[in-house]
Amino acid sequence: MLPVYLDHSATTPVAPEVLQAMLPYLQHAFGNPSAIYTAGQEAREAVEHAREQVALLVNAEPDDVYFTGGGTESDNWAIKGAVRAWGDRKNHLITTPIEHHAVLEACEAVQELGWEVTFVPVDSTGMVDPNDVRRAITSRTGIISVMHANNEVGTIEPIAEIAAIAREHGIPFHTDAVQTVGRIPVDMQALGVDMLAISAHKLYGPKGVGALVVRRGTPLRPLLDGGGQERGRRGGTYNVHGIVGLGAAAQRVLQQGTSEMERVRALRDRLVQGILERVPDVVLTGHPTHRLPNNAHLAFGGVEGETLVLSLDAVGIYCSAGAACSSGDTEPSHVLVAMGVAPHLIEGSVRFTLGKDNTEEQIDYTVEQVVRAVHKLRSLRTVS
Ligand SMILES: Cc1ncc(COP(=O)(O)O)c(C=O)c1O
Repeated sequence: MLPVYLDHSATTPVAPEVLQAMLPYLQHAFGNPSAIYTAGQEAREAVEHAREQVALLVNAEPDDVYFTGGGTESDNWAIKGAVRAWGDRKNHLITTPIEHHAVLEACEAVQELGWEVTFVPVDSTGMVDPNDVRRAITSRTGIISVMHANNEVGTIEPIAEIAAIAREHGIPFHTDAVQTVGRIPVDMQALGVDMLAISAHKLYGPKGVGALVVRRGTPLRPLLDGGGQERGRRGGTYNVHGIVGLGAAAQRVLQQGTSEMERVRALRDRLVQGILERVPDVVLTGHPTHRLPNNAHLAFGGVEGETLVLSLDAVGIYCSAGAACSSGDTEPSHVLVAMGVAPHLIEGSVRFTLGKDNTEEQIDYTVEQVVRAVHKLRSLRTVS
């Protein structure tokens, strides 16, 4: 039963079928897809097959899928590539204060180029109001970027509504779908977005590979100039085994349908209910219903989140205090600050994100250990 891994929004294990699909490309099938001889062409076919698998998962055209080095690169490319494509014709970007650092830092970089960035607010559940996006638009707006679901609190944003507003104004719209692809149905056509970022390691694929799906006609310059790969839009020798892994991970999601996530959702509800019933002074942060099915973000009064994470680690449970990418930071979570969460609750916040291999037994064990640890930490605080 141990360890109990409850940090699937940080990363997921590579699924056995994904590993099996990747192995030949780390062994004998090592050709470079850009080579014209047979071994190269076999690798090329594997890459193109993966492109179809990814396109199918998000309801896009295979030609719209561009493989990248992961979610961070995809986000950077969408924002910086759009900015470069506009030249000096536009100079305003709209985003939110709760984006992943991949988007926030890319925005900071384009500010240095003279672009102005408007951050539309979120409410106390982490939700963006599409009307705020509409009000922020000016004739100078060249790109809008709003994440599909937040990586800390799991709130799912009204992307279709925001994308419709962007389209009305002829503004390219990017969504960071790193936390949603593989967890909830993601349909690029239904959402109406122009660019969508994916990361393989969040859906039981390998780390360091992802995709940016770009609707044809979207103004976008390359981020990585190089040897003409990806139809001249993303240079660099193909990460064939990684790309094949992403394709296999996409196919796995399609094969599972919604059953896997419904099972995970039930476990997540069991965890939340168990903790809320048995631990006093704890709140569920984020949106009560519009949230990722695997996310439980809880704020415990009178406890330090990191101390609780370490106490749970000692009994074989892995979870995180705030976002994985920023753990080790002493800064409070920018997401919780933007949501207006009280400072003492920010300090006591812990994220549990469930996945396909978790069991009821593990969840019941976790509830038990959280009850014990919180009780112990609170009593230590009272004494000192
Ligand atoms: C919402 C979001 N965007 C982007 C990223 C970065 O993706 P990658 O780790 O593939 O660079 C993450 C990873 O935590 C994420 O959660």
